[in-house]
This record gives sequence, C-alpha cells and structure tokens, in this order.
Amino acid sequence: MNMKTYLVTGAAGFIGANYIKYILKMHDDVRVVVLDLLTYAGNLGTIAADIDGERCVFVRGDIGDRQLVDSLFATYAFDYVVNFAAESHVDRSIENPQLFLQTNILGTQNLLDAARRAWTKGTDACGYPLWREGVRFHQVSTDEVYGSLGAVGYFREDTPLCPHSPYSASKASADLFVMAYHDTYHMPVSITRCSNNYGPYQFPEKLIPLLIKNILEGKPLPVYGDGTNVRDWLYVEDHCKAIELVLREGRPGSIYNVGGHNERQNIDIVRMSIATVRRLMTERPELRRVLKKQERDAEGQITVDWMDERLITFVRDRLGHDQRYAIDPDKIRRELGWQPETSFEDGIVRTIEWYLTHQEWVGQVISGDYQHYYERMYGGR
Ligand SMILES: NC(=O)c1ccc[n+]([C@@H]2O[C@H](COP(=O)([O-])OP(=O)(O)OC[C@H]3O[C@@H](n4cnc5c(N)ncnc54)[C@H](O)[C@@H]3O)[C@@H](O)[C@H]2O)c1
Repeated sequence: MNMKTYLVTGAAGFIGANYIKYILKMHDDVRVVVLDLLTYAGNLGTIAADIDGERCVFVRGDIGDRQLVDSLFATYAFDYVVNFAAESHVDRSIENPQLFLQTNILGTQNLLDAARRAWTKGTDACGYPLWREGVRFHQVSTDEVYGSLGAVGYFREDTPLCPHSPYSASKASADLFVMAYHDTYHMPVSITRCSNNYGPYQFPEKLIPLLIKNILEGKPLPVYGDGTNVRDWLYVEDHCKAIELVLREGRPGSIYNVGGHNERQNIDIVRMSIATVRRLMTERPELRRVLKKQERDAEGQITVDWMDERLITFVRDRLGHDQRYAIDPDKIRRELGWQPETSFEDGIVRTIEWYLTHQEWVGQVISGDYQHYYERMYGGR
C-alpha cells in the first residue's frame, strides 16, 4: 500500500469537512491530520465521527502558528497539504478586514514556509531546493479573485485578478504567494478556484442554509439589492472530487477553475428554496415538525400556506457587491476529465432535505455547543 498522509486545514468547516469525509470514503490508504482553529465557522461535531485518532487525527490550532505547524510536519511527514482554512465570509471581511489578512495571507504563507522547510533537502546546480518526491501543496481558492463579470463572458485561469472585497483580495494575495513559491523555489503547488458551493454542513450565515433557517422560522428572507446578482453554483462533493483530482494528477504549478456552468440569480435561489421547502413539507407532512413557525388549520394540522414569496425582503445592497461570477471549467475537464455529477435540481433538493433532517446539527452549530464540546473533550488544549 502506498500510504499518503494529508495535512488538511480548516476541515471543521463546510468544504473541508465534506472533503475529508470524501477522501476517507474513497481511499483505504490515507491518513488525515486536521488542523483547525475552531473559529465560529468550525465545528468539531461535523467531523467527530471521522476522528478516530488513527486514520483521522484532530489538532486544534492556528495555521499561522509556526511552532505548531513545524511540529506537525516533524511528527507526521506529510505528503500533501490541502489548505481550506480561511476566514470565508465576505460580509465579515467588510466588518473586519485585518483578520482576513492574518488568516488568509499570513497563515497560508506560514504553511508554505513550513512545507518548504520540511520537504526540501539541499539544492540543485542552479540553487533551487531539491524537493521530496511526491509531495504537493494545494491551495483552495475562489472565483472571487477574478472580480466581477458583466452580462457575458467567463472567468478563465488567465483572467487577470481583480478582487473587490477584503475577502477576495486576501484570497488573491494568498494565491500569488502560492505561485511565488512555485516560481521561486520550484515548490510543487496547485490551486483550484471554485464557484459558490452548496450542500450539507454549511454554516447558516451563507445564502442557502440561511434561507432554510429563516423559512423554518417564518422570518423575512433578506435579498441584497434587486436580487439580480448572479453566482455559479456547485454541489460541494463535486468540488471535493475536483480538489482530490488536481492534488493527485494536476500539473504542478497549475491553476484549475472549478465550476458547473450553473449560473443563477440570487432571487431565483430564494424562490427555489421557498418552493422546495414547501413542496417537501407538502409531500411529507412529518417534516413539518421542524417548523419553528407553527400555524395550524381548522383540523389542527400544521400548515405551510404562509410559506411563499411574501417572505422575500429586499435589503440595501452589500458594499462593492460583485454583479456576476461565472466559471469556464474547460481546463480541468480537458486535462483531468473532471465534470460535475450532481445537477442543481437534484443537489438543491438533496441539500434542503439534509437541513430539514439535521436540525439538531444546525441548532448546535448556531448555539456554539460544539465549541464547548471541544473544551470538554480536549480540556482546552
Ligand atoms: N464556500 C464557498 O462557496 C467557497 C467557494 C470557493 C472557495 N472557497 C474556499 O474554500 C475554503 C473553505 O471554505 P468554507 O466555506 O468551507 O469555509 P468555512 O468558513 O466554512 O470554514 C473555514 C474553516 O477554517 C477554520 N479556520 C479559520 N481560521 C483558521 C486558522 N487561522 N487556523 C486554522 N483554521 C482556521 C475555521 O475554524 C473553519 O473550520 C476557503 O478557503 C474558501 O475561501 C469557498
């Protein structure tokens, strides 16, 4: 067996958690060390069933902590680093940009340096470091680094970087550092830039889980501006498959855009979410028990008659709100044969069903119970 040891950062968050579940399911011959600071967005409970202390080990810590990261490299002799850890919410970056610089830029650079120290021995005749065979540093990035599109056109890998928010500016800077380590030290790196993800385990401040939460509570559904901003949506497991493929088979020093040609206006996502929750609850009345707003009809049955587009509330637009994102995924399809397997129509129903049947997870995530769970489990270490 050709055992591979991964350092996966930020895997108590949405995509990282889905990714480790995917690789542990797909490969017998992997060992995963999760490094996560457990910020508000990280929830140990999401991956508690995966952590067995052998195939999957959890370490709480900051990707910017040099001593800790060096000690992990020394202990585990990683083959791969997959960096998901980030501050990831645009609205929060508008409130507190500096945290985004610390985590997304300095944290990434700290990981790059630790990998360079651990994976190199000596230099070649030109002075470039000699790298251990088979290692790879993979950076998980976003289409937001390209800025915003008009009504037509797509982001390609050679589209100039033009980030607008503090979040996307920090991710673009991190990408530049990753490529700089490739160009300067010949470090074997790769980057994926993905469009908006949706699926299980997403923190309910992001659009789709937030919509579901508010629908269940009968609360207004806030829509920025006129709701015509376009995002390109991808089911999270399709993203995880793309990362794994690029990590193992992508060309070193290469960037791959990941997207499913699934552009939707935000307002359409809102309408679709309302209609899907209502349809599922109509077809399966037992699901109605998770409704926080419980109106009853004359027979005493919980009704969903109120669940319609009257819930939509337009709010003042986000500052610097990008109008349209759309990915051209041709390179990853052509070079690596990747394409999405989940249609939006299936993925959105699967996702909404998941949230309706995992309300306990949502409650715990929101209440921060799992932060306390960690303290109980690990005694504050
Ligand atoms: N969500 C999307 O639609 C999307 C799309 C494209 C790219 N991305 C990128 O994918 C990555 C993961 O996104 P997500 O939506 O899963 O994010 P998330 O906010 O759900 O999770 C981020 C995780 O990183 C951890 N973290 C934060 N700061 C840390 C630090 N200093 N040290 C260690 N861990 C830390 C958090 O505790 C959390 O578990 C991010 O880099 C993001 O930029 C996300």
